[in-house]
Formats: sequence, C-alpha cells, structure tokens
Amino acid sequence: MIENKKVTIWHPFTHTKTDPEPVHITRGEGVYLIDNKGNRILDAISSWWVNIHGHANPVIAAAIYEQALKLEHVLFAGFTHDPAKKLAEQLADLLPPGLNNVFFSDNGSTAVEVALKLACQYYFNREIQSRNRFIAFENAYHGDTIGAMSAGSRGIFTRPFSDLLFHTDFIDYPSTWIGDTGVEQKEEQSLAQLKQLLDEHEGRHAAVIIEPLVQGAGGMNMCRPEFLKKIRSVCDDHDILLIFDEVMTGFGRTGHWFASTGASVSPDLICLSKGITGGFMPLSVTVAREKIYDAFYSDDRSKTFFHGHSYTANPMACAAALASTGLLRDNPELFTGMAAKHLKNAGHLMEMKQVGKFRICGTIAAWQVKTGGNSGYMNEIAPVLRKKFLEKGILIRPLGDTLYLMPPYIITEDQLSGIYKTIPDVLNSLHL
Ligand SMILES: Cc1ncc(COP(=O)(O)O)c(C=O)c1O
Repeated sequence: MIENKKVTIWHPFTHTKTDPEPVHITRGEGVYLIDNKGNRILDAISSWWVNIHGHANPVIAAAIYEQALKLEHVLFAGFTHDPAKKLAEQLADLLPPGLNNVFFSDNGSTAVEVALKLACQYYFNREIQSRNRFIAFENAYHGDTIGAMSAGSRGIFTRPFSDLLFHTDFIDYPSTWIGDTGVEQKEEQSLAQLKQLLDEHEGRHAAVIIEPLVQGAGGMNMCRPEFLKKIRSVCDDHDILLIFDEVMTGFGRTGHWFASTGASVSPDLICLSKGITGGFMPLSVTVAREKIYDAFYSDDRSKTFFHGHSYTANPMACAAALASTGLLRDNPELFTGMAAKHLKNAGHLMEMKQVGKFRICGTIAAWQVKTGGNSGYMNEIAPVLRKKFLEKGILIRPLGDTLYLMPPYIITEDQLSGIYKTIPDVLNSLHL
C-alpha cells in the first residue's frame, strides 16, 4: 500500500510561507517560458543569468542527445573524454593568455570553492603555510556553500552561519553609474583599503577575489576596467593571487567574451559557470595559471589536489558547452551589440524621478528604484515589482530596490523595447 505522504518541494531563495506558489512551467521557447495555463512569460533575466541563447535551443539540445547516445558519463579521475578535452582547449583559446589549466566542477559555488582551495594549497605546497587569508569586496556574492559564503559579503544570507564562516577581509567595491562624478575617489579609497590590509597582515593573504566589472547578486554594482587593472598591479606588487569570479560575467554577459578579456586584465584563477552550457546542463570550471598548476606538479603525492565531484566534467554538459560556445563564436554581435540597444531604449527611464544610478555593462542594464526605504536585498519593493511584472508577462526578479534586465542574447529589438515600455507603467503604478 502506498503511504499517503504530503510531499513538499523546497524552492531556492523562497520563503516557505509568504512567497507565492511557484509558476508551473511546461515549456520554453526562445526568450519565452510557457506555463501550464498557456501564458507566455518573457524571461528578462535569462533564468538566473544562465540561458544566454534563450530556452530550448535546438543546436544545444541536439548536441546533448548525440553525446548521450555515445557516452553519458564516466568518472573523471583516471579517465578522460573528447568533450572535456575539446572544451578545455576552446576555453584556453578564448581566455586571456596563460589561463590554460582547467579544473571541472558543476556549479558556480563549487568553482569558487575550488579557486579558494587551489589558492590556499598553492602556497601550502610551496611550504608557505601562513598565506591563507582572503580579501573580498563588500556586497560580493560568490555562492552558497560554506567557503563561497565565507568569501561573500556578510548579511541576511549568511547570518545563521556566521560562526561557521572563515574570516575574510572586506574592502569597498567602487560602484559607478552613468553620470557618476565620484568614481575615481571611490577607486582610490578601495585601493588604499587594499594596500592597508596587505601591509597590516604582510605575508598572510593568499588572494583577492572579485566579481570583475559587475557584482551580480549584491545589486548589479558596476566598476570600471581601470580599477581591475589597478587591483592586478597591487596583487603583483605584493605577490598574491587574483581570483576573478566570472560565474555571472563570463560568456558574453559584459559585452565581451569575459570581463577579463574586456578589461584586458588577466587573473591567476578564473571561475566560470552560468552561461557556460547556455542553461542546459550544470557545469563549471576553475581555470588556473601555469604557476599554480606547477605547484601541484610534483613527485610528492601529498601535493595532489584532493577535490572532485561525482559529475565532474560530465560529457553531456561538456557537449552542451561546446555547442553553446560555437553559437557564440558564430554570432558574437549578439552580445557585443546589446549595450547600445539598452542605451537606445533607456533614455526615458533615466529621466524618471523614481529611477537612480542607471548603469549598463554589455547585456546588463540596472538601476535603483527610489523607494525612500533601505537599499538592501530585503527592500519590500522587490516582491511587489516581481508580481507586477509577472502580471504583464515579464520575468524580472529585482534585488531589493535594484531593478535589472539581463535578457537572453537572442532577444529582438521589439521584445527589448517592449520591456522598456512596460517599466514606466509599472513604476508609475506604485505611486513612489
Ligand atoms: C558571481 C557569482 N559567483 C558564484 C555564484 C554561485 O553560482 P551557483 O548558483 O551556480 O552556485 C553566483 C550565482 O549567482 C554568482 O553570481
């Protein structure tokens, strides 16, 4: 006899009591999600920033199908396969020179964990065991596992675990926007904070970790390439590693293949996930510079990187990533041209009294909705806006009072301008 059990599904970042019932999606088609009532919802945030080619892309679907018929999975310790080898070569070709040692895992948080552990063990293997502190940025978000949370800004997400997180030193992220006149001063201040920490704790830091050009979950805060160059130079002066968490910014998001290539700044470790498979399969990589790999290349077996996951370098995920990368290579103008489209449509929004700190980086446009309340993630405007946009057939998930668009690159001019036309209606309906 089957027991009559009540089964609940626990959704991510969802309050079990007060959040609305999840929308039941049955199909995806380009920029649209289609629910079980037949409503079409325009996915203006690429389903948490992953679906860069929209939904149900047939090229990627076919690549996964073909790979599944050949080899669906094999453990990655002691074994390898073509999709992983080809993908590693592709990535090394696209990334800044010198980043060609690829470690696979299966989500953004894990890619960050791997980067933090590699940085630590890089020194450990060289018998410099004192270097195990990290410097990160206020408002940073690097994922939800304990290590990734430790490198992230402290707040409501991390509060229940505060005693479990390792110590991290935080400095300010010099956020800027269109018309900002204080950016240089903010950058100088952040650099001064960085230098002070490095001097105060000389020889103790392993790495600086940053979301280059755009801090995602922390509020779509944008910094200038010039700042990244300066951070690189300070890290070089102090001989510490620089980690770029490009989990969100990778694969065209910032209008360039990567924030690092766009800013012409090469980190020592880079974390990639999200857009890597175009939203089809969970996959991530942490790519390390040669000198890091060399610190593990030894006759001493204790210098092994003892880290791995069951689904490491899953062949179907690698095949999806190869297909997705191929699509981007064929049509780079899809991501290089989107900043101009945002700008063309955004003029009337920037004029609105409810809108502040408007900023664009590549495919991302973000701004503050002036509510008079606090500007954190818990600003009550977020669920209100989410509901109102959903009623208008648009999926937008504000981060507190930060409203942003991060659409699939295949969005048409008409679809994008349609979203921009809806936004003032929604903001005006709030009587802010
Ligand atoms: C910059 C950054 N790093 C790491 C992560 C964590 O990735 P995942 O959700 O795949 O664990 C995210 C997710 O939003 C992110 O934006």
